[in-house]
Amino acid sequence: MVRTARAAGGGVMAEIRIHPLTELDIDGITRIDERITGRYRPEVWEERVTYYIRRDAEASQVAEADGAVVGFMLGEVRGGEFGLEEATGWLDFMGVDPGTRGKGVGARLAEALLAHFRSCGAHVARTMVRNEDEQILGFVRSIGFAPAPISSLEKRL
Ligand SMILES: CC(C)(COP(=O)(O)OP(=O)(O)OC[C@H]1O[C@@H](n2cnc3c(N)ncnc32)[C@H](O)[C@@H]1OP(=O)(O)O)[C@@H](O)C(=O)NCCC(=O)NCCS
Repeated sequence: MVRTARAAGGGVMAEIRIHPLTELDIDGITRIDERITGRYRPEVWEERVTYYIRRDAEASQVAEADGAVVGFMLGEVRGGEFGLEEATGWLDFMGVDPGTRGKGVGARLAEALLAHFRSCGAHVARTMVRNEDEQILGFVRSIGFAPAPISSLEKRL
């Protein structure tokens, strides 16, 4: 899937290509996470990327511009969690490079991931977002997610 997006101001930004996650994307994802969180965690992302590829090599998606990773969305279809028996597409991790936000990259990543979930037989997608992550909440609501009739509880250990 290749499209050319028009940047604000009328200039044409680099073509953004959405493709399934591969191990070659680990460095780029680590760099985006570092820009978002301020933490450099290559081992964490190596482990996560390996996990999601092993679970379903076609599900998780990466956005690339000029050969560099500019966004990622990791997820998979799981069932039987929280007493929810139906196959559910879980959107687990996402990040778009701060310099590439607001241009529809997150929406395109979600479109590809959700299409894959549908093709796997899932009729619902779910995610969990901390209330303080207003940016992610605003985004997921924009792409059609609504509060679920589920209570989220925790106990500190
Ligand atoms: C949330 C995030 C993925 C959005 O990516 P993006 O590429 O900027 O989003 P898009 O440009 O595709 O926006 C899609 C829609 O979401 C909306 N949206 C995006 N960011 C939003 C925000 N902060 N608040 C409200 N709405 C927002 C857009 O307005 C757009 O809505 P529209 O279609 O009605 O115009 C990105 O901001 C991000 O990576 N944030 C940090 C995530 C993070 O902390 N990850 C670490 C934990 S896993």
